[in-house]
Amino acid sequence: MKNRIIDLKKEKNAVILAHYYAPIEAQDVADYIGDSFYLAKIAKESTADIIVFCGVSFMGESAKILNPDKKVLMPDPKADCPMAHMVKDGLIEKMRKEYEDLAVVCYINSTAELKSHCDVCVTSSNAVGIVKKLKNKNIFFIPDKNLGSFVAKQIPEKNIILNDGFCPIHASISASELLSCKAAYPNALVLSHPECEKEILDVSDFVGSTADIINYAKSSLNKEFIICTEDGVEYKLTSDNRDKKFYFPDPRPRCTDMKLNNLENILSVLQNEDREITIPEEIRQKALAPLDKMLELAK
Ligand code: 13P
Ligand code: SF4
Repeated sequence: MKNRIIDLKKEKNAVILAHYYAPIEAQDVADYIGDSFYLAKIAKESTADIIVFCGVSFMGESAKILNPDKKVLMPDPKADCPMAHMVKDGLIEKMRKEYEDLAVVCYINSTAELKSHCDVCVTSSNAVGIVKKLKNKNIFFIPDKNLGSFVAKQIPEKNIILNDGFCPIHASISASELLSCKAAYPNALVLSHPECEKEILDVSDFVGSTADIINYAKSSLNKEFIICTEDGVEYKLTSDNRDKKFYFPDPRPRCTDMKLNNLENILSVLQNEDREITIPEEIRQKALAPLDKMLELAK
């Protein structure tokens, strides 16, 4: 299957993008592997005719918003991020009426429809820097309350209004489990994704995106780490650092949606060119503005 996928990529001028949470078999056939910001940039720059996105639907949608003329294929269209939908209908418009000077900041983990109502997108790797650059004092941060409160803590001069969304995988990492893990591995540094709850972030040594966590572990002189994010990052962490040990809280954080990507469905979309992301043009154009603004402000 791997060889067939490699041949089809060449034949059809296709690229495969995979998030660090995708299964090992998907990462192994990918041309680019990274966090959501890196993959959005790669999608924007790509000269391929077909992009196969081994991630979840908001990632495929972002690639399509940035590349309307390319085919963006999802190996399994059921791979969706529950948090991407966690903003109540009409809430953004209600907030805009309440605050005159409001910037609506949208975590990239959101549907194209939601993005189309927002001013700027962010990812976990650039949220603090981008919100700092905005002139507005009042910020409505959607959908993730945990990333939102992490950003608010770094920028106390802004009034950051939180929305009640969260990632079910990161939010279920338990603080008491983390404390037992720390007791079992007292020399380990705790590296966490900002989608974790405050109690986790408060006892972490480093907080950052999946790519930030991977880079931190690589450059650190420490030999042991407790990783509070989805366990797909383990593949890159262990292949980059044969001499280091990585522990995950129990139960291991696992995003079942990300794990829907596999060799069978990657090969199938490359053969059939089906399972294509489509977005109504009016929504795509409106959602493009906050994504472009993110790419501009993140420079
Ligand atoms: P990153 O932006 O760190 O890749 O995270 C994406 C994500 O879905 C986290 O749950
Ligand atoms: Fe969404 Fe959480 Fe899965 Fe990331 S880990 S894609 S935020 S459900």
